Amino acid sequence: MCGIVAYIGSKDAAPILLEGLARLEYRGYDSAGVAVAAKGGLKMVKKKGRVADLAAVVPARFKGTAGIGHTRWATHGEPSDANSHPHLDGAQRFAVVHNGIIENADQLRAKLEADGVVFASETDTEVLVHLIAAEAKTETELEDAVRAALSRIVGTYGIAVLDAEQPDRIVVARNGSPIVLGIGEKEMFAASDVAALVRYTRQVVHLDDGELATVRADGFQTFTQDARATAKKPSTVDWEEASYDTAGHAHFLIKEIHEQPAAVERTLSGRVDERFATAHLGGLNLDAREARAFRRVKILGCGSAYYSGELGAQLIEELARIPAHAEPASEFRYRNPVIEADTLYIAVSQSGETYDTLAAVQEIKRKGGRVLGVVNTVGSAIARECDGGVYLHAGPEISVASTKAFTSTAVAFALIALHFGRVHDLSPADGHRICAGLKALPGQIREILAQEKEIAELAAAYAHNAGMMFVGRVRGWPVAREGAQKLKEVSYVHAEAYPASELKHGPLALIGPELPTVALVPDDELVEKNLTTMGEIRARHGRVLMVGHTAPDPKFAEDTILIPKNEPELDPILLGIPLQLLAYYAAVALERDVDKPRNLAKSVTVE
Ligand code: F6R
Repeated sequence: MCGIVAYIGSKDAAPILLEGLARLEYRGYDSAGVAVAAKGGLKMVKKKGRVADLAAVVPARFKGTAGIGHTRWATHGEPSDANSHPHLDGAQRFAVVHNGIIENADQLRAKLEADGVVFASETDTEVLVHLIAAEAKTETELEDAVRAALSRIVGTYGIAVLDAEQPDRIVVARNGSPIVLGIGEKEMFAASDVAALVRYTRQVVHLDDGELATVRADGFQTFTQDARATAKKPSTVDWEEASYDTAGHAHFLIKEIHEQPAAVERTLSGRVDERFATAHLGGLNLDAREARAFRRVKILGCGSAYYSGELGAQLIEELARIPAHAEPASEFRYRNPVIEADTLYIAVSQSGETYDTLAAVQEIKRKGGRVLGVVNTVGSAIARECDGGVYLHAGPEISVASTKAFTSTAVAFALIALHFGRVHDLSPADGHRICAGLKALPGQIREILAQEKEIAELAAAYAHNAGMMFVGRVRGWPVAREGAQKLKEVSYVHAEAYPASELKHGPLALIGPELPTVALVPDDELVEKNLTTMGEIRARHGRVLMVGHTAPDPKFAEDTILIPKNEPELDPILLGIPLQLLAYYAAVALERDVDKPRNLAKSVTVE
């Protein structure tokens, strides 16, 4: 949600912290701040607004070789200078940055205030820095004071703590909010996301929940909440630094839309097994007998990840004939779900850090269920928590709105469905048909992207309506949901998705000249039914933009976007691409902050 970065070494910390914060800004962007340990105490600057606003007010003489920084997405207290992180204790000895939510903050605050502590902000985080200061009266080492303070809080956190009296170290801790250490040459980094580190190092260590670390210029030690040392093996990040630049594009969103052919190639790479007309997915950790034993599949994710899970459920039912269903992880975890031994659970997450999805995985595992992950971020919490899975290899996704991860997830589900299909009753001929369809996807996505200019013109024409309806039937229905989601989150144009079959059971009442409809109409067995729905919309003077394979009679649609035909089961993957361009160019036409839509943040690491 928010972003954390920390540096300790021999260089000036401030420029490194500001650079790291700029890389992390996609995670939260309502305020930012930095603190460094300098001779004579801590120095801190923090400010409501973007990282660039902060950088403009950091003085030239903001010197120190150990420091922490933060970019915020408000949970407790509105965005303001005072509520920005870092937070300091009264004596200004400690500085803390925090991601997550402290649930018992109100009780702790009342108690601290009764003890005479004066608070400078409305945040839950400030409680933590005062607790550390209180514990430091009896604990001499910073890590002991931090451990003692953390034992008093209930909630989730990723934190970094700086102590003016022990400037040779930074203490970080994780519980539900990611912290990753970066190992440099006589310098160390810590951050909530490798995006802040790749410029400086590729060697990283992911902390586990309940772990703390002392980070010094010459190395690190990790330990548990009860002070037992833990052993960690560094891993190498393979994402390129260039992935974190817009590389000449106006926004990350359009760059990532254009990266989809390459992302899909990577998702497919080495996984299409033409000899046996199946998919090779070693990471599932399931042999054929185990794969046959599951009687149901339940897919869990949030937002676009959930919609891609709906596409996945459709693919698994069609190709493997195993009943499959997707549900928002954020609902599942709260409804005391029945966990069945013969159900395979699949968690979907681009970031691998979405708290609701992680909590759903933990609940399933606690009850003895088997969970696979379809995850983009290698080494992320959800990936590590699952019993196996499929990495997307889509590359880092920076824009808040998901595009390439959505598409790569759908492709990963097609591989899973093919694999399960071939251990069940999918024929070799059908297996070959799907293998060929999968291999055609990158080229076909390129063909759709080549229509960018025409789609941009359509988007500009439709953007100024107060709302838009998206309809699809069966295979097109999850695509309609994702299309509506994309439009509303980046352009703020109200959008509703409905199964085309449901329109006349209520929402048809909304249809008129002022509410255009995007209709997803693949050439499949339902094409006639879809044309009937479009006729019903046209009869109410509703404007229709059809996305499909064959231009309809003009009486059914004013506008048409035609896409290449793949196999019917895989067509939904392609149907989604023009809708991403539509949302992007609608947002551009309305001059929205495309990569950082209001109120949103990439990677929702709080409940
Ligand atoms: C929408 C979007 C979100 C995410 C959701 C889950 O464009 O990006 O709806 O899909 O917050 O995030 P991950 O996939 O990181 O778990």
